[in-house]
Amino acid sequence: MSSTAQKQNAIYSGVPWYDDQGNIVSAHGANIVKEKDRYYLFGERHTDTSNAFAGFNCYSSIDLYNWKFESIALPVQATGKLDRNGVGERPKVMQCPATGEYIMYMHADTMGYIIPYVGYAVAEKITGPYIFQGPLLLNGKPVKKWDMGTFQDEDGTGYILLHGGDIYKLSNDYKSISEQTCKAFEKGFESPAIFKKDSLYYFLGSDLTGWERNDNYYFTATSLNGPWTKRGLIAPPGTLTWNSQTTFVLPIKGSEETHYIFMGDRWSFPKQASAATYIWQPLTVKGYDIAIPEYEGAWSIDLSTGRISSQKIKPGKLIAADKLNGYLGNWVQGALSTMSSDEKNASFSFTAKATQIGFYGLARPDGGYAGITIKNSKGEIILTGTVDMYAKYQMVGLKYLSPVLKKDTYTITITVLGERWYWKNKKGDLSGSKGDMVSIARIVMI
Ligand code: GLA
Repeated sequence: MSSTAQKQNAIYSGVPWYDDQGNIVSAHGANIVKEKDRYYLFGERHTDTSNAFAGFNCYSSIDLYNWKFESIALPVQATGKLDRNGVGERPKVMQCPATGEYIMYMHADTMGYIIPYVGYAVAEKITGPYIFQGPLLLNGKPVKKWDMGTFQDEDGTGYILLHGGDIYKLSNDYKSISEQTCKAFEKGFESPAIFKKDSLYYFLGSDLTGWERNDNYYFTATSLNGPWTKRGLIAPPGTLTWNSQTTFVLPIKGSEETHYIFMGDRWSFPKQASAATYIWQPLTVKGYDIAIPEYEGAWSIDLSTGRISSQKIKPGKLIAADKLNGYLGNWVQGALSTMSSDEKNASFSFTAKATQIGFYGLARPDGGYAGITIKNSKGEIILTGTVDMYAKYQMVGLKYLSPVLKKDTYTITITVLGERWYWKNKKGDLSGSKGDMVSIARIVMI
């Protein structure tokens, strides 16, 4: 959108991100490939209506804060497994050292997740177009598993990781599997991701709870063949991996420090396009121990030195929600200075001179969706968004922050949509929120 100046200066977890065109970044189950000084982000392109395949997106960035939309790297296919009735998840791209081609791997499935396989697609250019090739074969047969990831070792060998801990070694051209490196060793263990530090491999994954969050955990080994030793949780117990599910770990090797970025998804079915967010956190790695001890709402990384720092929003830029007017409909004052409502169409508006505007909210087990609009001083709607106010436990956090805007007077309106996230898995178990509540804690203006 023309009115956005696009110069975010930090990684903000748990809020919708806008790309250079003013659209919400839709790239879940992602991975990142670096080429020259650009980072390419590949992920699931979602809709707000169903889990049917809607393509895989590619974005690029030079700072990991501001994302340029590059392409629908792999669009919905006219026919076959990845047509508009299929499911495509967790795209992962690696460049094949032997051929120079870019190969994208994915979980391809039927709606309902009944007939999965690992598929692949090939491109000449990193941004695509990726041409779908069908299943990746081992001895002429597809690998019929679902959650997958990839890992490229220092010698250029590529591996496919699968739920449960299976690891498969790719052939030289990355277009088939040459052998099984490690057999599944754990029940569940979805969203597999591996990174390596010195001579130790770390294997991260989640418990099997569909799009509901859980405490993700990890193993270590000195060889990809195993044996893998279970080491424990990635984040403090009960935080449910700070309400996210692992997708990838991105190492950043600076001139002074090396850091590992944990990339996780905070899913939000059915509004996965607008309301699912990214939880990208610095991962501390010391010997066998890895951790995300604190939740960093906003942090920055100097990509040349590798130094990281926390970015705190100054207290003067925050106003408690119960000190403000502008509420329409039935809102109730509560603990932590919150104002809460679950009445459909109840709204709150706030006007301020700012370059960025947003709010902190109380996520809760009965949290629902909030609709967001930002208007400029002419009354034109310049941004819209959707925020998911659900969490399995109560937690105050930044829920929405606009991109950096031209200096003007802006009005943010937060509306109770009277909807919530939910998910029925293939066994018919229902998970998700128990209500439509929207709790505003503080307004932010920068
Ligand atoms: C898990 C998987 C996701 C997706 C959902 C669907 O979260 O990790 O990739 O398949 O289940 O329920």
